Amino acid sequence: MNLNRRNFCKLGAGAAAAALAPYHFALAQTEDGFLEIRAQKAEQSLYPNSPRSTIWTYNGTTPGPEIRVKQGERVKVRFINELDEPSSIHWHGVRIENAMDGVSGLTQNAVKPGERFEYDFVAPDAGTYWYHAHNRSWNQVGRGPYGPLIVEEPYPTFDSEHDITLVIDDWLLDQNGQFDEGSMGMMMDWSHAGRLGNWITVNGKSMPEIDLRAGEPYRLRLINVSNARTLELDPNRFEAKILAFDGQPLPEPISMPYEPYLLSSAQRVDLLVIPKEGQDFVLEELSGNKPFPFATFRVTGKVNGAPSVPVLKPNALTEPDLNAATTHRLHITGGAMGRMGNMTYKGAPLGRQEMMQSMQFWAFNGVANLPEQQFFTAKRGETVIIEMINDTAWPHAMHVHGHHFRIEEREGSTIDEGRPWKDTFLIGPSQTTKIAFVADNPGQWLLHCHMLEHAAAGMTTWFEVV
Ligand code: C2O
Ligand code: CU
Repeated sequence: MNLNRRNFCKLGAGAAAAALAPYHFALAQTEDGFLEIRAQKAEQSLYPNSPRSTIWTYNGTTPGPEIRVKQGERVKVRFINELDEPSSIHWHGVRIENAMDGVSGLTQNAVKPGERFEYDFVAPDAGTYWYHAHNRSWNQVGRGPYGPLIVEEPYPTFDSEHDITLVIDDWLLDQNGQFDEGSMGMMMDWSHAGRLGNWITVNGKSMPEIDLRAGEPYRLRLINVSNARTLELDPNRFEAKILAFDGQPLPEPISMPYEPYLLSSAQRVDLLVIPKEGQDFVLEELSGNKPFPFATFRVTGKVNGAPSVPVLKPNALTEPDLNAATTHRLHITGGAMGRMGNMTYKGAPLGRQEMMQSMQFWAFNGVANLPEQQFFTAKRGETVIIEMINDTAWPHAMHVHGHHFRIEEREGSTIDEGRPWKDTFLIGPSQTTKIAFVADNPGQWLLHCHMLEHAAAGMTTWFEVV
C-alpha cells in the first residue's frame, strides 16, 4: 500500500465508510463535581482495515470526551497524567483565568507522570472551543491528546440532534496505515511547513457518514486539531453559512467570504447547513492534486415547510479603542527559502550550524527563543494593537492566549470584512496584518504560531497584562 495524497481517492472509494456516532457528554462527574481526564496511551486504528496504532489520548480515545457546559458555568476537571512525560491541558480559545490556562512552564509547572492537577474555571463565552496538551505540543498534540469543549448558549438553539461536532485531524501514516512514529521532529518539517500528514480523520474515524434530514437547520462545529495542516474547504458548494469563527458568533450568518475557505490549525468554524432534498454532500480537503473527501453527509426525508433557524447572539466582548491604543510590532522572520538571516538564540547569533543544533529556524523580532523572551507588558484595560509583519515565505497560524482579537487590517485583502473576533488567524507569506484587543485579562499569556513545529522552532513569545 502506497500512501500518498494522490492515492487518497482510490483508497477512499474502496474502504467501507464508518457511521459517525454523535458525540456525547460521556463523562460522569465524580462526587466532588470534577470531570476526570486521564492522559494515557491507547491503541486505535487510524486507517480503514489497518492495524491499530499506539497513540496518546484523553480517557482512551482520540479525540477525548466532549466536554459540554453552559455559558457562565464552572468547568472542573481533574487532570491525571498517566503518560511517561510531563503534560498539562490548555483550554484553547477560552478567556480563562491565567492560572488555569494550562501552559507548562509559564502558567503552571508541567504535571509529572503519575501526578494530577485540578482545573477549575468559568467559561465566559458560548461557542466551540477545544482542549489539548500544552507541553512539547508538537510531540504531544501530534499523537492525539485533545478533545472538544463546547460551551452552550444559555438560551435554546440547535438541539443535540442538530448540533454536530467534527474534530478534524491530519495524520502522517506509514506504509501499514499506522502512526508514523519515526517522522516526528524532522528538521525539514520544522524549517518548512510543519509536519503535514497524509490521512484525515473526523472524530477519530476515517471517512464517516453522517445522516441529516432535508430542510432542517444543522450546526456543524468544525475544529482543526492538526499540527500544521491548513484545511482548504469549500462549504459554499453546499450553501453553508458561517455562524461563528473561533467560537464567537457573527451578528448574522454570512456566506464564505472567499474560496476555498482556509481553516488553519486550531481554528474553528461553525457552519449552518440546511440540507436539500436528495442532495448528499461531502467535506473535502482541496489542497492536494485531487480533492480528498473526508466526511460524507447523507440527506434523507422531505422538506416540511420553511425551516426555523436558531439565532446565536454575539458574546459580550469589549471593543478595542483604536484611538487610545498602544501598538507593538512583531516582525516574523526565518524559515526555509532563504529568509533565515540575522537571528539570535540565547543571546548569540544564530548561524547555520547553531540552527541545526538548536532546531531553531524562526524568530520574532530577531530572537528565536522559547518563552524566555517576553514581548510586551500591557496595562489592564488598555487596547493593544499588534502589527504582525510576516517576512517569511510561509503562512502562519498566529494564536493569542486569554483574549479574542479583531482583525483590523490585512494588507492587500478584504477577506476579514466585518472585523471578526478570532483567537487564531492565518497570516499569509509576506503579509502584514493588524489585530486589536483589550488587554483585560491579567497574567502572562502566550502568543505563538499554532503550526506546532514552528512554535517549537522559535515562533513563541508571551506578554503580560498587569
Ligand atoms: Cu491551542 Cu498555545 O495553544
Ligand atoms: Cu508558523
